[in-house]
Amino acid sequence: MALSRIDQTAVAGKRVFIRADFNVPQEDDGRISDDRRIRLTLPTIESVLKRGGSVILASHLGRPEGKGHEAAFSMAPIAARLRELSPQLAGLRLVGTRCTDAEAADAARALKAGEVLLLENLRFEKGEKKGDAALAAQLETIADVYCNDAFGASHRTDASMHALPLAFRAAGKPTVTGLLLDREIRFLQGVLETPERPFVAIIGGAKVSDKLAALRNLIGRVDSILVGGAMAYTFLKAQGVAVGRSRVQDDMLAQALEILQRAAGSRTRLELPTDHVCAAELKEGVATGIAVGPIAADMMGLDIGPATAAHYAQVVAAARTIIWNGPLGAFEWKPFDAGTSSVAAAVIRATKSGATSVAGGGDTAAAVEACGHAAGFSHISTGGGASLEMLEGKSFECLEAIDRHIEPSYS
Ligand code: 3PG
Repeated sequence: MALSRIDQTAVAGKRVFIRADFNVPQEDDGRISDDRRIRLTLPTIESVLKRGGSVILASHLGRPEGKGHEAAFSMAPIAARLRELSPQLAGLRLVGTRCTDAEAADAARALKAGEVLLLENLRFEKGEKKGDAALAAQLETIADVYCNDAFGASHRTDASMHALPLAFRAAGKPTVTGLLLDREIRFLQGVLETPERPFVAIIGGAKVSDKLAALRNLIGRVDSILVGGAMAYTFLKAQGVAVGRSRVQDDMLAQALEILQRAAGSRTRLELPTDHVCAAELKEGVATGIAVGPIAADMMGLDIGPATAAHYAQVVAAARTIIWNGPLGAFEWKPFDAGTSSVAAAVIRATKSGATSVAGGGDTAAAVEACGHAAGFSHISTGGGASLEMLEGKSFECLEAIDRHIEPSYS
């Protein structure tokens, strides 16, 4: 049974409530610095409009504490960007100061085919974070179809993600996924459930503690795990290798050892960096050196070294499925982006030769993008926390509230 999807659902003359994830990064002056989440939601919105439906868009933005409208967290910059991005959204209106106020409900009820409303930040409501059924019951009355296109928030049980589709269901109204959420699930779940082998996972980032659950879920499932980023130094220290002043989570040494032992007893080859780009401190233009094996007491490892990068690129070149979560070095500071960049280039070459490559959102997407390699991946997720939780093998409650349909069989 597959999740029902918006483009398979009749929407002519209907008002579709689209829960999007427009939680985008903003500069201090409110300017949007990365609008990928907004752009990738457009196909879902346009699918409804071109088939004679109308759209009520809703999202959270940042983490206001549910104390009512706060200008700093208003959806106004999102409304402006949506209008800029699509001619079909030129007439989009941001209504009311709260998604629950009468002005928003009246505007929603008066919507005509082809029209689009954006509601104010869902997290202005105390009930949103609490998963409140009363808030959901109120929002359910303003639309005919519920569509979840907020993959980035799908690991949350906020009212708009879980209680709201349940309320639509209880009222006999359809609950479906949007096209972005559908694509995210197909790629992230697809590679985990039916990977072509060899299956390689590239796992980086600063903290082992953030990746423990994902590593546990991947061991035994993938053929290789290539470790990078500061988390590698916790593993190396656990093995007794000198790591100098590198960033280490000393309280995670036992867990790191347990992961290494678990991998050793499985089909998965877990690889750690064998050389490192080192410096006395993390800053642009600082003198760097390459340490092969142990790192000197006054130095810190800040990127995988060239031999490790070349070896990882070789493993990636032979892969048919690649998943990536976490940068391999301190990519925000040159030259510590080199390892991430050269492995990303190898992923793109593998993808061109037919491999499927999937990168997590958040830091991973930022790292791949900063290295100029984003376009060549099969899929780059819009979810940071959500894509990591999928790698951890968690199931998402919000998806249980979406209708199922039987996929046609052609045999
Ligand atoms: C994200 O950016 O990861 C999602 O929008 C979820 O946001 P949250 O962590 O504030 O719930």
